[in-house]
Amino acid sequence: MTASDHAPDIDARYAFARALAHEAAQMGMQLYRERGTLVVEHKGAYRQDVVSIADQRIEQFLRARLAERFPEDGFLGEESGAADLEARCVWVIDPIDGTACFLHGLHNWCVSVGLMVDGRPHVGVIADPNHDELFHGCLGRGAFVNDQPLKASAATHVSEGLTGTGTFHPRGKEHFIPFLEKLLAEGGMFLRNGSGALMTAYVAAGRLLGYYETQLKSWDCLAGLVLVKEAGGLVNDFFRGDGLLDGNPYLVACPGVYAQLAQMVGPSLDT
Ligand code: IPD
Ligand code: CA
Ligand code: CA
Repeated sequence: MTASDHAPDIDARYAFARALAHEAAQMGMQLYRERGTLVVEHKGAYRQDVVSIADQRIEQFLRARLAERFPEDGFLGEESGAADLEARCVWVIDPIDGTACFLHGLHNWCVSVGLMVDGRPHVGVIADPNHDELFHGCLGRGAFVNDQPLKASAATHVSEGLTGTGTFHPRGKEHFIPFLEKLLAEGGMFLRNGSGALMTAYVAAGRLLGYYETQLKSWDCLAGLVLVKEAGGLVNDFFRGDGLLDGNPYLVACPGVYAQLAQMVGPSLDT
């Protein structure tokens, strides 16, 4: 029998992820206060896609602590890439989700720590130090913000609340503008706060009815997907194809509104 034949210790990983995300978020707050001094780089040709030394430092911290505590686990992070993706447990993390907000002095950013077990999202922790909110959940055990249980909205129509949305320039606007037009025509209203992980947590918390983004990466949303499922929400087939590494279109929503939003997104959800 080898180590990988044993059932992974989920309790230990869930507890560790909560403490680690909280610690990383506090580290993020220190860097946020010093943001004027951070060197900012642009990723590739796309000027809105920014990264700073804060993203890199927090990812190094998370990666080192996870490797020390769970050396048998795999890892996928936005800034440093992948290792051991064939392991039973793979951590999928975004050191700062909402980097543009972070660098522009807007309080919508967080640390996102997700855990995939046997190919399925299993644990999710999203730490928002600006609002003292630690969102966390584990498959079959519910989802919480701090100690409060999360529940998706009971709404049955988009006109009953706000819908999160987002896009980025490389994904054509034809995947975005028609959706906005349909949402507004039905009496819905959109919100984009600059952090896909936080907007996903807000769907789990019932603060947003749903959230559509034309394309996300797995580190933006894996932790949040656990929260939404555990809070009774619905999610699209985000991991189809090469979703883990390349990303896909993304839709999460409360059960009464998911079908309406999916219809508004139309074929863009599958292409
Ligand atoms: C971004 C945020 C944003 C979304 C972008 C993501 P980053 O992540 O989640 O809300 O619209 O597509 O890339 O770059 O801040 O980690
Ligand atoms: Ca992100
Ligand atoms: Ca990021």
